[in-house]
Amino acid sequence: MPRNNAISLPCFHDVWGAVLLVLVVLCIPGSAAVVIDDVLVSLSSLDLTKMKQGWGRPQIDQSITSKPLTIGGQVFEHGVGSHADSVFSIQLDGQAGRFTATVGVDDGAGARGSLVFQVYLDGSLSFDSGVMHGGDPAKRIDLDLSGVTHMMLLVTSAGDGIDYDHANWAAANFHISAGSNLPVALDYPPRESPMIITPKPGPVPAINGPRLFGVRPGHPFVYRIPCTGTRPIVFAVDGLPDGLVLDPATGVLNGTAPATAGEYDLTLGATNEHGAAERSFTLVVGETLALTPPMGWNSWYIHYDRVTEQDIREAANAMIDSGMADFGYMYVNVDDCWMKQQGDEPYRDTATGAVLCNAKFPDIAGMVDSIHALGLRAGIYTSPGPWTCAGYVGAYEHEAADARQFAEWGFDFLKYDWCSYENVATGDGTARLQRPYRQISEILRTLDRDVVLNLCQYGRGAVWEWGAEVGGQSWRTTGDLGLQQGALLPAFYSIGLRNARHHECAGPGRWNDPDYLMLGWVGSAQNMGEGTPTDLTPNEQYSYMSLWSLMAAPLFLSGDMTKLDAFTLNVLCNAEVIAINQDALGKQGRVMIEDDDHFIMVKEMEDGSVAVGLFNTSEGEQPLTVRWGDIGLSGSCTVRDVWRQEDLGTYADSFSTPKPIRRHGVMLIRVS
Ligand code: GLA
Repeated sequence: MPRNNAISLPCFHDVWGAVLLVLVVLCIPGSAAVVIDDVLVSLSSLDLTKMKQGWGRPQIDQSITSKPLTIGGQVFEHGVGSHADSVFSIQLDGQAGRFTATVGVDDGAGARGSLVFQVYLDGSLSFDSGVMHGGDPAKRIDLDLSGVTHMMLLVTSAGDGIDYDHANWAAANFHISAGSNLPVALDYPPRESPMIITPKPGPVPAINGPRLFGVRPGHPFVYRIPCTGTRPIVFAVDGLPDGLVLDPATGVLNGTAPATAGEYDLTLGATNEHGAAERSFTLVVGETLALTPPMGWNSWYIHYDRVTEQDIREAANAMIDSGMADFGYMYVNVDDCWMKQQGDEPYRDTATGAVLCNAKFPDIAGMVDSIHALGLRAGIYTSPGPWTCAGYVGAYEHEAADARQFAEWGFDFLKYDWCSYENVATGDGTARLQRPYRQISEILRTLDRDVVLNLCQYGRGAVWEWGAEVGGQSWRTTGDLGLQQGALLPAFYSIGLRNARHHECAGPGRWNDPDYLMLGWVGSAQNMGEGTPTDLTPNEQYSYMSLWSLMAAPLFLSGDMTKLDAFTLNVLCNAEVIAINQDALGKQGRVMIEDDDHFIMVKEMEDGSVAVGLFNTSEGEQPLTVRWGDIGLSGSCTVRDVWRQEDLGTYADSFSTPKPIRRHGVMLIRVS
């Protein structure tokens, strides 16, 4: 009898049961002529607690709703009932025979579910069901597993959300040769030990941050010179215009910008007992704010509706104490939920009509003062609608009073979030989407402060095409990153790659915003949960930061500032990575090569070099190569490893990564 002619056995929920049954079959009188060299091991006998899925728990021999497994009217006795998005990672020993299964949407979902089933064998896609809908006939999988050591079962939502995506892996069995090892369910994502690759800044001062900064004529200006090196450091500035004062001990510049527009060339200096640093810096007095992407912190993904004034004050202090401010992080922004909630009247000051804070913000003006005293900037949030997304008081019909109040408190940044404006918006098409943003930016323009305006309307109406025209300095290009589900790849990839499409619309003073850096301790956005350490692997975190830097995205950490660990800081605070983000040319990187298992993003830099990110999106490690000709370069180029801050040498025609890039990892290089 040929191998792999599997004898159909009932499903085994433990390995010994499986082995025992084979022995029983061998002992059946009259079966002696049958050479049994395969053991059937059902998928459901593996440790299903390791199967990750978007809703509910994996079910043995029944659908996700505890009914018989049924696909297109066909009922199956055995299998696993799951739900998109789902991932199951399985170790094999290279000697397994086959994997067979019958897959489809469970009939219990009616016609509503739509799914894609995929099987990866050693990182390559070996089965793809295409989109399957509820009611479609089942599809059969039969895969040869010889030589395969890793298998990944995947169910995705076919891009339309996971509602009713009841996924059946029916009659799913491994055909294992007698004597070889049984399949083992693995943790997903696989554990990786965090390796710190950012070199520690030295004791000698090094000045970081952008080469230029925009301010409107005669407006207040605060800037803390981002600088690493052993404190105390004595700061000096050459060419400082009248109206601005430097505190030599902290490096904080404070005062009023010149009344006359123009470029003011300064030389920043920093000296300590180990040495000195100097750097040119241009104060661009004019109309354009945010000449480089804003950097800072936002409260949303960690504090949600729990946010307090104390959290914001602590975040500002931590921005200094952690060293983040030494790399250019400067905005400390409160998101939703600082104002009063629906029902908690009065909402507004009877005299001025301006919005009131809730009890958790007893002294918001004092809070902003203390942020400014550190040389940092403060940001606030509201909605053009009557209510914010979390049901707090919005600015509707009080826009001017609220904006004036924000300026009086001293805020430097406003996130303006569409939310309930949907219910009151008038007009049609793009004009309807633009109206509240035009209105608020015109109001902000009358204030005697620079208030950077972030449009938050989730990328509707191709906002990247008109965000700058209506007065925004940045605009979210997608829905909330924290609400996106990722199965095989974490959501920052899909959000990032969507944001990447709009590279042509970005430039100095106008940035595509793919949402925050959810790193360190973050709370789940699904339930506004308490913070827990990110479940992104170390390699994924390097990829996330590299992608945001290459895309010239605003760099806002939205995680717990009081729980920053050494690994997270090594991701957030690499001066050369940030320099790519803050480059004065203001080009957003674009994807120049994209394949199933990798992509290459390229960003042109002011000095004529290019920053190149080689992203491995596969489940395994792989070396990657970039040919200069494919990214618009030619001849011999020198290459620098940006994360490790090391020159790698000169490369003719192409560059291949010296080591394979780990699963979901990146190599970020600067090519001159
Ligand atoms: C929306 C925004 C988020 C956050 C919340 C606050 O969902 O997109 O970034 O500001 O509102 O409620």
